[in-house]
Amino acid sequence: MSEPSAPRIHPTALVEHDVQIGAGTAVWDGVHIRGGARIGRDCIVGEKTYVAGDVRIGDRCKLNACVYVCAGIELEDGVLVAAHTVFTNDPTPRATDPEVRALLASEAPAAMPRTLVRRGASIGANCTIGPGLELGAFCLVGMGSTVTRPVPPHALVLGNPARLVGAVCRCGRRVATAVRGTVPIGDHRCRCGRTVRWSGAAGGGDG
Ligand SMILES: CC(C)(COP(=O)(O)OP(=O)(O)OC[C@H]1O[C@@H](n2cnc3c(N)ncnc32)[C@H](O)[C@@H]1OP(=O)(O)O)[C@@H](O)C(=O)NCCC(=O)NCCS
Ligand SMILES: [Zn+2]
Repeated sequence: MSEPSAPRIHPTALVEHDVQIGAGTAVWDGVHIRGGARIGRDCIVGEKTYVAGDVRIGDRCKLNACVYVCAGIELEDGVLVAAHTVFTNDPTPRATDPEVRALLASEAPAAMPRTLVRRGASIGANCTIGPGLELGAFCLVGMGSTVTRPVPPHALVLGNPARLVGAVCRCGRRVATAVRGTVPIGDHRCRCGRTVRWSGAAGGGDG
């Protein structure tokens, strides 16, 4: 059995102390990873991406260029986050105290809402993900969307605010189109041979 390859870190990347990066992961130029972050194996962290200190990223994830992953975010295995996507964690942000006398600490408060992106999910280019949301397994967020509500597994959502427009297969193809915001309940066969079983508000799963 061959040895797992060490992570490849571009010389211009700033990787702070106490960061864990798994074997086979590539970190491109100008990336900043804050202390305490955990990144799995065989990932790609694209150029100029920022990863905050308590972020958890699973194995085989792809973050394209200029992604902003703030504190409070967890990505399970196989998640794609396309270029210029921004996560958020503070629903009521302020720079200072109410009297505008003191700058508030940048450290995330313990009660900050957390966001979880389930395995296999994809977030298109230039999206904004609201605080404290779960994005379900194998969902697909269309390019340029603003996500303000949880996204069910296998859902295709898009727009500002992002709305349910269909269901997608594990392979990424659309297998069903929503009618008046609802995907028909039942089995939706994909050209790849898989089936998405849509069960209503709980979203889709393997059929
Ligand atoms: C959402 C997406 C998957 C839809 O693909 P699709 O099912 O083939 O849909 P179509 O291209 O046939 O578009 C259907 C309708 O939705 C609209 N639409 C498509 N994507 C949209 C988006 N992201 N936001 C708003 N509307 C969108 C189209 O204009 C079209 O509208 P119309 O019927 O009024 O003409 C695709 O447009 C997308 O955003 N892919 C992600 C691209 C990306 O960010 N990749 C990142 C890695 S490079
Ligand atoms: Zn498929």
